[in-house]
Amino acid sequence: MTNGQALALQYLEQQRALGGNSVILPDPEPRLTPGESPGKSEPPKSDLPPPGLSFDPPSGDLFAADPVQQTRSLAEIATLVAACTKCKLCESRTNTVPGEGPATARLVVVGEGPGRTEDETGRPFVGRAGELLTKILAAIDFPREQVFICNVVKCRPPENRLPQYDEIAACVPYLFRQIELLKPAVILAMGGTAAQTMLNTKQSLGALRNQVHRFRGIPVIVTYHPAALLRNPNWKRPTWDDVRIARLILDS
Ligand code: URA
Ligand code: SF4
Repeated sequence: MTNGQALALQYLEQQRALGGNSVILPDPEPRLTPGESPGKSEPPKSDLPPPGLSFDPPSGDLFAADPVQQTRSLAEIATLVAACTKCKLCESRTNTVPGEGPATARLVVVGEGPGRTEDETGRPFVGRAGELLTKILAAIDFPREQVFICNVVKCRPPENRLPQYDEIAACVPYLFRQIELLKPAVILAMGGTAAQTMLNTKQSLGALRNQVHRFRGIPVIVTYHPAALLRNPNWKRPTWDDVRIARLILDS
């Protein structure tokens, strides 16, 4: 297969995974031409974008009095979250949405905050944006069940407004402790709120894309929020480029 063919195939697979019109894919068996070596032609490592920001918030030590720092499991964090009244979002929530996924997850997805369906069910990304997230993950061969999926704030902001600074500041210790326990290989920050919180910056999403940032040394890839993709399908293609970078790092 020529490079062009491989790219075209990849693009079609992407469109299919992201819910585009169905296409008929050619036989994926590699047909070797003389001089070509067998095996998949993976893009070279140099495809990785340049390093970006690095955020290293101090992690609480074992003897810190803060109960969040004393948690020893994701379930313990969820228990604390369920009883949390540290910000005003507790007043209007139906359920807390701490996040879900296996403790062994190598990929962590961070969104903004629960929406209506999430508030009703206590589960992250289960509405329309969640369905799209599931497809995006499938596009990089990640069954959703293998990914830890969570949000910056664990309670729904009224009318899905942006979480406010004080709410993020109150809630973020839960997220940071989750990541500390999970120790994932890659963090995918979806949308401006997640990206700016994970990297402690006010830079725009557009400025933060296409770099490999770090949170306590863990690579952070920034991309569009699935809800934004529902409004603007033109961002699906750049989103694919971003999650492919996450996949490259996971495979390396
Ligand atoms: N949007 C988010 O940011 N998180 C969810 O859990 C659902 C929608
Ligand atoms: Fe507590 Fe976070 Fe919910 Fe605020 S959003 S009440 S800090 S769990």
